[in-house]
Amino acid sequence: MPQAGFDTAWEHASAVPGWCTREQAHALWKAASKLGPGSSVLEIGSHKGRSTMVLGEAMRTAGGKVYAVDPFIEGRLFGGQSTRVTFEENIAGADLSDVVELCSDYSTKLRPHWHEPIDLLYVDGKHDYWTCADDFRWGVHLPENGEMLVHDAYSSVGVTLSILVNVFGSRDWVYVERTGSLALFRRARPTTADRLRVLAEMPWWIRNVMVKVLLRLRLKPLTRLLGHSGSVDPY
Ligand SMILES: C[S@@+](CC[C@H](N)C(=O)[O-])C[C@H]1O[C@@H](n2cnc3c(N)ncnc32)[C@H](O)[C@@H]1O
Repeated sequence: MPQAGFDTAWEHASAVPGWCTREQAHALWKAASKLGPGSSVLEIGSHKGRSTMVLGEAMRTAGGKVYAVDPFIEGRLFGGQSTRVTFEENIAGADLSDVVELCSDYSTKLRPHWHEPIDLLYVDGKHDYWTCADDFRWGVHLPENGEMLVHDAYSSVGVTLSILVNVFGSRDWVYVERTGSLALFRRARPTTADRLRVLAEMPWWIRNVMVKVLLRLRLKPLTRLLGHSGSVDPY
């Protein structure tokens, strides 16, 4: 797989504020680059386009497209219509307007009416249990062995509970690996060993929740005892 494609993608994407690290962007790019011509990626939660641009560059090379699903809701954390304008400028600036199709809606509202096949699913939208659980249901549109990447896995409480209920307890998902909090799942029948790998991440999840609580209590020095550095949440 040519690394040069990723370096170009990251050069553009890293200039856009967001939460996706370089290693995680590489994992997204690698998953998308495996797809063939005519295939599609569906991203839930695009914000200013940092991860969308990485997926878009990979799909331009593959000859496919990216559906970017985001309602651009007003709010302190994410911004609303001004974020949408920035997203569109970033996509156009990277010459990805022909590759990325914006679906400006809530993933949960769009899902029941969706009929297109998708080849890769990236979940990074609302992180509460119910929305995340619903977002995993987009997986029915993936082919057998199709991949789903989930950001803030084993980091956010809502996302992790959703994994416990809808992946650990399901017959449809195999947990493969994670890059920080970016977890990779494959649509296939899990073995007992596959299920146990989900449970093996629980100590890391508890550690991450403790780090987040300490950061909000302004006890940053104590997070160092848990191996955390810096003042941002563990991603
Ligand atoms: C963490 S940000 C996404 C970051 C982005 N993937 C990146 O790498 O920069 C979460 C985004 O999810 C969007 N969002 C919130 N609820 C959503 C929903 N129900 N469906 C789709 N997107 C949602 C927010 O508007 C926000 O832009």
